[in-house]
Amino acid sequence: MRTLVLGGTRFLSREIARQARDRGHEVVCAARGLAGDPPPGVEFVRVDRAEDGGLAPVKGAFDLVVDVARHPSQVRRAVTELAGRAGHWTFVSTCSVYADATRVTQVLHHPLPGDADEGDPENYGPAKVACEQIVGADALHVRAGLIVGPEDLSDRFTYWVERLARGGPVLAPGSPGDLVQFVDVRDLAAWTLDAAQAGLTGPYDGISMPFGRGEMLARIAEGLEVEPELVWAGQEFLTEHKVEPWMGPRSLPLWLPLPEYAGFMTRDTSATVAAGLRIRPVADTARDTLAWLRDSGHTVTRSGLTAEEEAGLLRLLA
Ligand SMILES: NC(=O)c1ccc[n+]([C@@H]2O[C@H](COP(=O)([O-])OP(=O)(O)OC[C@H]3O[C@@H](n4cnc5c(N)ncnc54)[C@H](OP(=O)(O)O)[C@@H]3O)[C@@H](O)[C@H]2O)c1
Repeated sequence: MRTLVLGGTRFLSREIARQARDRGHEVVCAARGLAGDPPPGVEFVRVDRAEDGGLAPVKGAFDLVVDVARHPSQVRRAVTELAGRAGHWTFVSTCSVYADATRVTQVLHHPLPGDADEGDPENYGPAKVACEQIVGADALHVRAGLIVGPEDLSDRFTYWVERLARGGPVLAPGSPGDLVQFVDVRDLAAWTLDAAQAGLTGPYDGISMPFGRGEMLARIAEGLEVEPELVWAGQEFLTEHKVEPWMGPRSLPLWLPLPEYAGFMTRDTSATVAAGLRIRPVADTARDTLAWLRDSGHTVTRSGLTAEEEAGLLRLLA
């Protein structure tokens, strides 16, 4: 089986390339090579999809194509430039295609018009809707939720792993029962390949079923073999003290204000689970993420509170 990964130099697309290689596929990764290196044992073709004809160096036909792009123009070029040479097509999309974060809905954003590109982060969801329309209904649309695990550079889940491993009282956001959902990059890659090989088409949410934030922290603690002292802070306190939700500096990752985001990490993904998505225990993801942190020397700086910020907030709650 010949598999083309449009990407393959970082995180999810690199993991898909790695697993396809391990399944015995002949794997070609096509990217600029700026984000990182493709996994060993695959063919790397240097391309720039920002240019018309940019995929010309990619030769031959493919049984599977997997694309992670976010710019409609790049997706349109891929569909055009690989026409007649691609078997099954997978487009990795996002749960950000859904129009209303306040509730669980199937309603999508309006697609970003014309060949406008993502640019502004506000346009991410609409751009992905446009991309889905370009690849069409006979492609598989993997609408990923938060992707976590080894090699995740966003520090959202990794913040909690590092924080619990560090010890001491831990500021936990919202309530233990608030729902969260995410997917280990290795589970999403495995299912994406399974689904592509089985010829699945149409949209699937690529994420676990929702579960409580308290359960998430308990399972991370289990994986790290620690017993954290959690100090829960309600969202009014966090908002009042300018703690940012979700990600970034001075944030508590995986916390989202309610009810504004009541539909964001609460999707029923049983259809994907029925179609074969297997979610490994959170404890395993946590343990492997910590091992990657230590091996790679990655430091958690993109999301979360600094130790000083957290200590200051804990003093206010004492
Ligand atoms: N991370 C999450 O939590 C999350 C959540 C929901 C959905 N998603 C979706 O999941 C996917 C994640 O993909 P990913 O982890 O592989 O990361 P990514 O950052 O989306 O990877 C983009 C890939 O495209 C390549 N690329 C970018 N510009 C290019 C260009 N002009 N020409 C050729 N190649 C180009 C990059 O490599 P070079 O820079 O080397 O060219 C890289 O390999 C994306 O579709 C994302 O939208 C992610």
